[in-house]
Amino acid sequence: MTASPVIRALRGRLLWFVGDPEVAGEAAYRFVEDGLLVIENGLVKATGEASALLRALPADAEIVDHRPHLIMPGFIDAHIHMPQTQVVASYGAQLMDWLNKYTFVEEQKLSQQGHAEKLSRFFLDELLANGTTTAAVYCSVHPQSAEAFFTESQRRNTRMIAGKVMMDRNAPEALTDTAESGYRDSKALIARWHGKGRQLYAITPRFAITSTPEQLAAAGRLAAEHPDCHVQTHIDENRAEITFARELYPEAADYADIYRRHGLLGPKSLMGHCIHMTHNEWSAFAETGAVAVFCPTSNLFLGSGLFDWAHARQRGVKVAVATDIGGGTSYSMLRTMAEAYKVLQLQGQSLSAFAALHAITRGNAAALGLDHLIGSFEPGREADVVVLDTGATRAMAHRMETVRDLAEELFVLVTLGDERNIAATYVMGELVAGASFSGGA
Ligand code: GUN
Ligand code: ZN
Repeated sequence: MTASPVIRALRGRLLWFVGDPEVAGEAAYRFVEDGLLVIENGLVKATGEASALLRALPADAEIVDHRPHLIMPGFIDAHIHMPQTQVVASYGAQLMDWLNKYTFVEEQKLSQQGHAEKLSRFFLDELLANGTTTAAVYCSVHPQSAEAFFTESQRRNTRMIAGKVMMDRNAPEALTDTAESGYRDSKALIARWHGKGRQLYAITPRFAITSTPEQLAAAGRLAAEHPDCHVQTHIDENRAEITFARELYPEAADYADIYRRHGLLGPKSLMGHCIHMTHNEWSAFAETGAVAVFCPTSNLFLGSGLFDWAHARQRGVKVAVATDIGGGTSYSMLRTMAEAYKVLQLQGQSLSAFAALHAITRGNAAALGLDHLIGSFEPGREADVVVLDTGATRAMAHRMETVRDLAEELFVLVTLGDERNIAATYVMGELVAGASFSGGA
């Protein structure tokens, strides 16, 4: 006899998005004050008023009462570096010096036995503690770093996109592969991990500066051979970087053209930073469907510049948001959006709390092409869930005394929130972090 499927239902204030608040306004979100999220076999089965849904539950269903907390789809981080957990908060440098002085030093340690495993465990613990259930992740150049990361993610059943970095020049010898070995090792990792459980592979040439034309061509070949894999890289982050990249590829019309002529600009391309973009580069993004990934805490910390979200929108370019740890300074997507708000303020642009919360759930899911799987509570979606206590800190509880409506409450959450507001995180309906979580297997 087979056991009947386990049903778990989370009760609380449900909030999720069905459209883009910048386009659809209030019609973009669903909010149920006393709601029930019914989960069966790890997938969303139903959402709605608790009073109605409770009556329809089987007697053996487990009900977890999270009232008065908010229940939202798990957060999504579109660009983050697993090997940089011990690079975060390194003093006083802009991009190229920061890479050479701090980042490339730390990334070499991933050749040591057990180090990538240790960092992957910490990294996933930290993401889940921050309510982040999916991320697009850079590993180091070592194939075993991606192997370690995917193994740990698979164990936790998290939906992760990751790839081994490819770099064959302008980095320490110990951190370089070759055009040929980078291709071969990436290909083997794709065969082993892409589509295994919830794991997805991203072809990851670090950026034009650390790849020869031969290696970018090899990465482009991989992308053509595996069109369902993502591509992730960096572009137009820093003025000195752009000058160097242009010198290395004199035949390219601009930085975006370097990637485009190697077959690396398409709808699955996640292009980190996009700060100093020319008119033609924005056009190339709009034409190819490439995604601009906005990393506000990193852009401020490394003094890189201000991302122009309004311009990207106006040009019809998809935008995702990300922490970019360790150039970024917080694992929290709430903190990330608080800094995004300030970056936009400096340019006379606005970002409502609804737009911010949409960006880190359904918005990022759509930008990654995964909105049929994650990012909302439509029936059939994977039940990755974050439970938020909007008054978790003394200052927030105090401020909440004066909020008058949901929009104000959510704006305080986005502006002052961080991992302390994460009451619980669920992956495929299983509790994996939060106050009542007692540790993993
Ligand atoms: N450009 C190339 N590599 C990196 C990196 O690790 N972090 C950031 N912020 N930019 C990069
Ligand atoms: Zn990065």
